This record gives sequence, C-alpha cells and structure tokens, in this order.
Amino acid sequence: MKEIEIQGMTPAHLPQVAELSVATEQVKFVGTMAEILVNIDHAVHPHVILDGDTVVGFFLIDTQYGHKYDFADSATLGLRAFFIDQRYQGKGYARRAVLGLKAFLVSAYPGFHQIVLTVNCKNPAARHCYEQGGFADTHALYLGGAAGPQHIMSMAL
Ligand SMILES: CC(C)(COP(=O)(O)OP(=O)(O)OC[C@H]1O[C@@H](n2cnc3c(N)ncnc32)[C@H](O)[C@@H]1OP(=O)(O)O)[C@@H](O)C(=O)NCCC(=O)NCCS
Repeated sequence: MKEIEIQGMTPAHLPQVAELSVATEQVKFVGTMAEILVNIDHAVHPHVILDGDTVVGFFLIDTQYGHKYDFADSATLGLRAFFIDQRYQGKGYARRAVLGLKAFLVSAYPGFHQIVLTVNCKNPAARHCYEQGGFADTHALYLGGAAGPQHIMSMAL
C-alpha cells in the first residue's frame, strides 16, 4: 500500500478541493463541499489527505470544539467533515488517514490531549474506520445532529 500524507490545506489545493464530493446518499453525513468550506475560520482548519499530488480526502480540525459541545473540554480537538472523495473510496484511504491522524495532530496541535468526533448511528462504515484508526466509542450519544443520533468517539493524543 502506498503512503498517504495529511497536510494543512493551502490555496494551491483549492482547485482539487473544489472538485471533491461524496455520493448523494452520503451528503447527509458531511454536507456538500460548499457547505463544509463555510465552516472554516481562525479556529476551524481545513486539511487534505494526499496520495502523491492528488487530493483524495478532506477534514476539518476544530480547535474550539470544547467551547461548542458540553461533551468536550477546552483541550479537546474536534474532527469534522472527514470524508474520502467518492472516486477514491474503498481503496483503504480512510483507514490509512485515520491511522496517521494521531501522529499528525500531536505534532501540529501540541497542547490538546484528545480528539473527539461524532458519527451518525446510520453510518457504520465510518464508525468502523474510526475504530480501526484508534478511536474508541465513548458509548454516549449526541442527539443534536440534523440527521439523527450520533455516537461520540474519542482518541487520546
Ligand atoms: C466512511 C468513508 C470515510 C470511508 O472511506 P474509504 O476510504 O472508502 O474507507 P476504506 O477503504 O479505508 O475502508 C475502511 C474500512 O471501512 C470499510 N468500509 C468502507 N466503506 C464501507 C461501506 N460503504 N460499507 C461497509 N464497510 C465499509 C472497509 O471495508 C474497511 O474495513 P476493513 O479494513 O475491515 O475491510 C467514506 O465512505 C466517506 O467519505 N463517506 C462519506 C462521508 C462520511 O460518512 N464521513 C464520516 C463522517 S463522521
């Protein structure tokens, strides 16, 4: 298997990022690229998952997650809008990206002690990926999502 790389998104990635999408039935889990990009601000940072020069996936790191959700403290990062473009799904990219996430975050975000995400209860594929990559189910549910209850998962950094 080829190595993948995680990088903070730069303007050079934008043409490829603008072309990313998930399948129609997956949009409820992450939204469209346009909906995702409006979340970016000083505290919510876009990242790309690269295979060589090709952007195959994307995610947001939310440094204010602990201020937005009562299940996280201020030293908690949030993983949001994680997806692999529909052209590249089923090739092991998500598994490898999640496995590489901890080392990337420890280096890029020192001072945070854990990363937390919520994943829809109707999205077992994503949950499985996160478990393979080192996230543990907290067995608590987040009920505030638009598409139904979500599992809260966390990984120590
Ligand atoms: C979930 C998602 C990230 C998986 O990406 P991917 O690159 O296709 O996943 P991988 O190829 O790395 O597969 C990882 C594991 O998940 C399993 N998997 C992937 N897609 C699956 C599916 N649709 N149904 C069942 N299992 C699936 C694979 O079999 C693999 O498990 P294994 O190693 O035990 O065989 C991708 O489908 C996606 O972007 N979905 C839409 C957005 C989304 O739901 N994001 C999560 C928001 S919390």
